[in-house]
Amino acid sequence: MKPLVNKIVCIGAGYVGGPTMAVIADRCPDLDVTVLDLNESRIAAWNSEELPIYEPGLAAVVSRARGRNLRFVGQTEGAAHVAAADAVFISVNTPTKTDGEGAGKASDLRYVESCARFIATHAKGHTIVIEKSTMPVRAADRIKSILASAGPGVTFDILSNPEFLAEGTGIRDLEAPDRVLIGGERPEPIAALAEIYRRWVPAERVLSTGLWSAELSKLVANAFLAQRVSSINSISALCEVTGADIEEVASVIGADSRIGPKFLRASVGFGGSCFQKDLLSLIYISESYGLTEVAAYWQQVVDLNQWQKHRFADQIAAPIATAEGSLRGRRIAILGFAFKKDTNDVRETPAIDVCRQLLARGATLAVHDYKVTSDSIASELGAKGVEVATSPEAALAGADGVAVLTEWSAYAKLDWARLAGTLNACAMIHDGRNIVDAEAVRRAGLNLRSIGKGGQSNT
Ligand code: UDX
Ligand code: UDX
Repeated sequence: MKPLVNKIVCIGAGYVGGPTMAVIADRCPDLDVTVLDLNESRIAAWNSEELPIYEPGLAAVVSRARGRNLRFVGQTEGAAHVAAADAVFISVNTPTKTDGEGAGKASDLRYVESCARFIATHAKGHTIVIEKSTMPVRAADRIKSILASAGPGVTFDILSNPEFLAEGTGIRDLEAPDRVLIGGERPEPIAALAEIYRRWVPAERVLSTGLWSAELSKLVANAFLAQRVSSINSISALCEVTGADIEEVASVIGADSRIGPKFLRASVGFGGSCFQKDLLSLIYISESYGLTEVAAYWQQVVDLNQWQKHRFADQIAAPIATAEGSLRGRRIAILGFAFKKDTNDVRETPAIDVCRQLLARGATLAVHDYKVTSDSIASELGAKGVEVATSPEAALAGADGVAVLTEWSAYAKLDWARLAGTLNACAMIHDGRNIVDAEAVRRAGLNLRSIGKGGQSNT
């Protein structure tokens, strides 16, 4: 039987839209998948050998499907594809609003709304419109009211199909997801989309709910994950002053099957494009319904994260600052700039806050990362006081302090015995990810400060 959905369009070729569509096209060679983006240079990159995002396994998936049943085109060429589509995914960014009502908290839906207008203008016949971007609950009402402006005979169903992939493991998460969530108002479109995912996802993992539950579940899933990181980070501070060890505490509490062992790694703080944005969106929604206690509860998750980043920067500064707190003349090696390993994404990376705080106190930084480009680093930090190093060794040369901010596996294997001589005497290594080989550092005669390890001194 011919599937109900044959031609798929996705608007937005970002970290979510690009990999998701590549996996759908790879797993369903009979479907025709077109990805649109307003950004022509991003489209050119998707059509080249240098993909615009780094994600392990992505290049292989794209190379199998591109030119067969997967294409990337600019939005101007997209009208005809939307007209022919059975289903259109909206996968554009939904950043935090910077002005107007809800500035600083609410999600900015202007890109989603402009996609809805584009679809309303070009769609023909019946089209399933699918929210892939994370939306505030009841965003579908706004999309529906825009789609209502389409011409006679043009009809729509709207579904919420939020993506749960994490960067760095995106392809694995798409190929073997814990669950796929499809929210909708009528069973037929839900079944049509479910049929696609069921080609490679076991049926019991394809969940369906109402539209509002699906929209809200995505925000809540990210809020719960972020809350775990802030919870363990709050305890990391307590470990440092009491002599306890956060890794021991995490492994004990994680052995309780009701708590579980994942997402309990203490760190310099969480980053990424989703956690803070989605928490703020949840806080704003709660406030707008008058639920101030709910909003205050989730606000604390954000505040703790800010505090953890500042606390970490203060710990780097403490042993090398002047009595007035200045870091002028001090060189600090920053190992890792991405918000986590195996990605080149720097959105909301904790490295931005830590580095800006050190720069504000006059330090010079030598920043190294395996995948983040020097342009990305410069656009976040500026050029003043910042040197981009091409190797960890180059970053460490002459450093008065070292901060490990991303858990790249290679940083766990650094040869501290060899590197010790290149650092300034007494330089302290601050491990914001607890991956540094503590024994090797100790043998090399260097000082290490890890997150959440009691019994460490600051000087
Ligand atoms: C996704 C989700 O969509 C977002 O809601 C979620 O919270 C985070 O993950 P992501 O794919 O990471 O966003 O965003 P990004 O990498 O910025 O990609 C969005 C793409 O949409 C960009 O390439 C942008 O050029 C494109 N875009 C934006 C359009 O093509 N049209 C528009 O009108 C707006
Ligand atoms: C997250 C969600 O995991 C994913 O389901 C959703 O679709 C998008 O948002 P992502 O932000 O890509 O994914 O990465 P994630 O692995 O969740 O890490 C987020 C941040 O938390 C990173 O900065 C990471 O280093 C940090 N983190 C994570 C910790 O500090 N400790 C942990 O134990 C886990």
